[in-house]
Amino acid sequence: MLLSQCSRSQPLSSVPVSEPIQFQTYKSENGLLSLDLEAKAQSVQLGSRTANLLAYNGKVPGPLLEAKPGDQVQIRFTNQLNQPTNIHHHGLHIPPTGSGDNVFLEISPGQSHTYEYQIPENHPAGTFWYHPHKHGLVAEQLFGGLAGLFIVRGELDEIPEVKAAKEEFLVLKDFALDDNGNISDTGHMAAMTGRAGGLLTASGQINPAIAISKGGLLRLRFLNAAPSRFFRLSLEDHSMHLIATDGGAISSPVELSDIVLAPGERVEVLVQGNQKPGDYRLTNQPFNPAQGGMMGGMMGGQNSDRAETVATLTYDDETDETPLPSQLIAVEPLPEPQATRQFALNHGMGGGSMMGGGMVFMINGKAFDPGRIDTQVTLDTVEDWEIVNTGSMAHPFHVHTNKFQIISQNGQPMPYLAWKDVVAVSPGETVRIRMAFRDYTGKTVYHCHVLDHEDRGMMGTLEIQQA
Ligand code: C2O
Ligand code: CU
Ligand code: CU
Repeated sequence: MLLSQCSRSQPLSSVPVSEPIQFQTYKSENGLLSLDLEAKAQSVQLGSRTANLLAYNGKVPGPLLEAKPGDQVQIRFTNQLNQPTNIHHHGLHIPPTGSGDNVFLEISPGQSHTYEYQIPENHPAGTFWYHPHKHGLVAEQLFGGLAGLFIVRGELDEIPEVKAAKEEFLVLKDFALDDNGNISDTGHMAAMTGRAGGLLTASGQINPAIAISKGGLLRLRFLNAAPSRFFRLSLEDHSMHLIATDGGAISSPVELSDIVLAPGERVEVLVQGNQKPGDYRLTNQPFNPAQGGMMGGMMGGQNSDRAETVATLTYDDETDETPLPSQLIAVEPLPEPQATRQFALNHGMGGGSMMGGGMVFMINGKAFDPGRIDTQVTLDTVEDWEIVNTGSMAHPFHVHTNKFQIISQNGQPMPYLAWKDVVAVSPGETVRIRMAFRDYTGKTVYHCHVLDHEDRGMMGTLEIQQA
């Protein structure tokens, strides 16, 4: 053991490997996913630390929900926080109105609300999630710990090699705790760069052990549930084979040496247990999302300048050699758009001091107003949206209700088609996305998923109208 550690180029993280990941899981039965969910301030364990956080059903991350296409969902939600909240179902293609994915609902302290909707029969399998979406409080409540996975099982899970793989869910999240385990103030810069903390967790554990079989496949499902931190993941001596993005499977696996995950993004990868049995680190590598923009130096603080261990892969047994799947689920290109729109992302002074309360984040020069309709589209049409970052910070752009395909990034076409609902746009960059408005009419939103930016105005309303 000592010898193998000494022979490494860098020492293993000094943080002890904590318990394996365990979720409280609710699965649908006979076509119904039904549960009680409560948001409450609570003391919870983060690895070996006790932290005073905000939790769903006492857990950080919240319970893992699992359903199938066509299932009915009933979530009896109670707000035991001391401030208003609500629940957003990030990435699910469900109605944005009524008791569906309605982010305009406000559930006051002490109040309850039942979220009720059906997952469409043709919904793709994938890694989705739920989190609070009360404008002005989203960053604070997410940073406090409120977030959980919502897994839709379907076609992708039936591919034999995927089915044979061991599966692990990694909800990546940073925390800032003081000596008493309370959430600490992340400083005056948080209003600009978004709040971030130095304690990295994977599904509520600090450096958990993840078992992999020699010869077998490991399916890792990643969610970046941090309010503003980007992750750049890399796995020691193993490549990762991308099989799914935000909105579900891609057509065939793509081999990657590292993966950048912006806040809100998800990926699924397969890892082959093809190395010498031992321990291998999954690390978060230094990464500057602003890429040399004006705020480059400041944003550099988001990820420290050294790699940090997020989890440790451990070979535990041996199994028959499982090959990688060659085909996954075809991603059909969306038809040509009927319209093209521009969205400029920027920030400015709303009066007041430079770094403090005065910072306003805007889309097309306007800060969020829930009573205003910013964008009107027609059901069953396809549009291209050109997202232009004219500011100096990276902005992960997110759209509710319908997923999209990235057409180009700075004029460069994408190497493969994928379903997305978040795309990071760096300073000076233009990203073109294509989206079809299907199945649901009503008012929904798009916004920056650095949630301090969203809370400070970088969100717009989208009305999908009947043709
Ligand atoms: Cu996960 Cu409107 O966001
Ligand atoms: Cu969302
Ligand atoms: Cu932003």
